[in-house]
Amino acid sequence: MNVVLLGPPGAGKGTQAARIAGTFDLLHLSSGDILRAERKARTELGRKAQDYMDRGVLVPDDLILAMMMDHIARPEAAAGFLLDGFPRTLAQAEGLDQRLAARGARIEIVVNMVVDDAEVTRRLTGRWSCPTDGRIYHEMFSPPRKAGVCDDCGSALTRRKDDEPEVVGQRLKTYHAETKPLVAYYTSRGVLQSVDAGGSVEEVTASIERVCRRS
Ligand code: AP5
Repeated sequence: MNVVLLGPPGAGKGTQAARIAGTFDLLHLSSGDILRAERKARTELGRKAQDYMDRGVLVPDDLILAMMMDHIARPEAAAGFLLDGFPRTLAQAEGLDQRLAARGARIEIVVNMVVDDAEVTRRLTGRWSCPTDGRIYHEMFSPPRKAGVCDDCGSALTRRKDDEPEVVGQRLKTYHAETKPLVAYYTSRGVLQSVDAGGSVEEVTASIERVCRRS
């Protein structure tokens, strides 16, 4: 099963992807996490992506498509994958479909996570992440047991630079202009299912699991 989680920044794509990938035994591929790892490793791609990410605008399509197809082509993805943060433009979605078709594969389910801008702003401005294992926390909605420390590995939690309020505003603008058109694209292909992502983490997981089980 090949699945895409679609939704605005802060919809909970990363939070849900970790849960859903575990339940259905899918490889979780987050374009944002892969880009942040490239930056940390100071690769050429990481250096090219840095400025776009810090400004809250999209990294060019050709760089993203090449990066994601490299991961999708790996043997670990053969049994099924879950994409989080990709595709994010019509050019990326069309490029992905063409490249998958050439391999005899396709996207079977696109989960459209629906949540309003006020709620995602609340979520992003309270987010903390573990730089070691990637676990995501929220200072009010899902706090760590000890403030500022990862429950699983004990690392000091960090905040993302692009979660500053002014960058969040730009990311939302980018989402509405460039990514929202994918709702119509995937609806026309008959694979889109919308879920209410404004509830608790557990409620949203249950909705996405239902969609995946009946598809
Ligand atoms: P990326 O890392 O993909 O960021 P994003 O899509 O903006 O999404 P986020 O990671 O911010 O949010 P999320 O939906 O995963 O929410 P989360 O689960 O963390 O992209 C970053 C940048 O990289 C982009 O701006 C761009 O520059 C570049 N990039 C990436 N992909 C690209 C592409 N394809 N093309 C071009 N450029 C690309 O949850 C958020 C918070 O809410 C957390 O604190 C969490 O604990 C909390 N939370 C989650 N669910 C709930 C809930 N149900 N109730 C209460 N709190 C919740």
